Amino acid sequence: MSKEPNIKIAPASGRLGVLIPGMGAVSTTFMAGVEAVKRGLGQPVGSLTQLGTVRLGKRTDNRVPRIKDFVPLAPLECLSFGTWDIFEDNAYEAAARAKVLDAPLLGELKESLAAIRPMPAVFDHEYVRRIDGPNKKENKTKMEHAEALMQDIRDFKAKNGCSRLVMIWCGSTEVHQKAGPVHQSLEAFEKGLAENDPHIAPSQIYAYAALKLGVPYANGAPNLTTDIPALLDLARDREVPICGKDFKTGQTFMKTLLAPGFKSRMLGVNGWFSTNILGNRDGAVLEDPGSFKTKEETKLSVLEQILQPDLYPMLYKDLYHAVRINYYPPRGDAKEGWDNIDIFGWLGYPMQIKIDFLCRDSILAAPLVLDLVLFLDLAQRAGMKGIQEWLSFYFKGPMTAPGLYPEHDIFIQLMKLKNTLRWMQGEELITHLGLEYYD
Ligand SMILES: NC(=O)c1ccc[n+]([C@@H]2O[C@H](COP(=O)([O-])OP(=O)(O)OC[C@H]3O[C@@H](n4cnc5c(N)ncnc54)[C@H](O)[C@@H]3O)[C@@H](O)[C@H]2O)c1
Repeated sequence: MSKEPNIKIAPASGRLGVLIPGMGAVSTTFMAGVEAVKRGLGQPVGSLTQLGTVRLGKRTDNRVPRIKDFVPLAPLECLSFGTWDIFEDNAYEAAARAKVLDAPLLGELKESLAAIRPMPAVFDHEYVRRIDGPNKKENKTKMEHAEALMQDIRDFKAKNGCSRLVMIWCGSTEVHQKAGPVHQSLEAFEKGLAENDPHIAPSQIYAYAALKLGVPYANGAPNLTTDIPALLDLARDREVPICGKDFKTGQTFMKTLLAPGFKSRMLGVNGWFSTNILGNRDGAVLEDPGSFKTKEETKLSVLEQILQPDLYPMLYKDLYHAVRINYYPPRGDAKEGWDNIDIFGWLGYPMQIKIDFLCRDSILAAPLVLDLVLFLDLAQRAGMKGIQEWLSFYFKGPMTAPGLYPEHDIFIQLMKLKNTLRWMQGEELITHLGLEYYD
């Protein structure tokens, strides 16, 4: 029995253009992966939109459709990719350089990947200090750069015959930035763009261009970008959904699995030391203390929010939490993350847990990019605007309304995401109360 939807969702007809600032390891693994899946060369493992299901009604109802059959998502065949990068390599060359995917697989995808050429980037060396490249827009004012990006977006849309667009930042992590006067209102921000205010970061110029044109924006890095009143207001005014920030992939993903478990059993934690070795370009950028500080902030915030030391001082108030990232080129994208966790139990007796996660950063991130693109497009067609908290599931530092603390517990995040889908389609929300089974 199908229900009356709570909101009207426009159909996913026509092509969806995926605009990506930053064509490095994550974005090439994502684009190559979509091509591979389309051709039956691989499976979209890790993608909730492609593999996940959603239970509807009672446990006895046996209604468990796939998410992609339950809500109207753009099919993979209808995606077109447009990117910007400071390097001129096409997507095939950039993917080969990133060394995430094997050469034979890339060889099979060569023609379609080589056709994706990055547009000249808006770049500022003050914001990303460890790299530089030749493919940049001319030295103009920040407002002229924003206008040039808007022209790129219009041209891309027309050339690829897209009916809709989504932008997702897969560029480098910018140096740490706090919101200042120029970010406080749209008026101040636009004045700042015209006057080349140094406090406006490149990622903010891309986000401004996207939002001005009504294009949803997702922030895959920990950059401040849209966490400022100027761009939050713009998103609401233009009725555009936004979400961020910083993909939750390796070590932080593990933290948000384990920490809710410790708390659920009222086990104490007094130390969590996390260290990583990483040898890709992202690792090189994060060697700069300015960029690392941006990353450190989203990585550290997670435990504090999940464990709530204010509510449970005896268990968590003395928690010593440290995160290190070391650039180690021999490993490339195959990161290794170690965690030493000092916990304590009954009567304060100490125990230790050691995790050694030999992961692949971009293999974990690519399906998140796909899901975010498809869900943001869904949100746009459903008329949902501003911060999309239901997409917290994907982020280390979920955006929330001002004054609201973010939800980091991955299981609550997943429940929230699925309940949002149920709500959209007019299905009952699942509370897990379950008394009706025993009446
Ligand atoms: N891989 C993961 O698991 C993961 C998890 C969370 C967040 N992230 C973030 O995602 C982003 C991408 O990661 P990656 O591994 O692909 O890094 P990467 O270094 O391989 O790619 C980033 C690309 O962005 C480009 N770039 C930098 N500034 C730009 C600008 N202003 N305009 C256009 N291009 C620009 C760089 O030239 C580079 O090619 C990073 O910020 C990273 O911190 C990655």
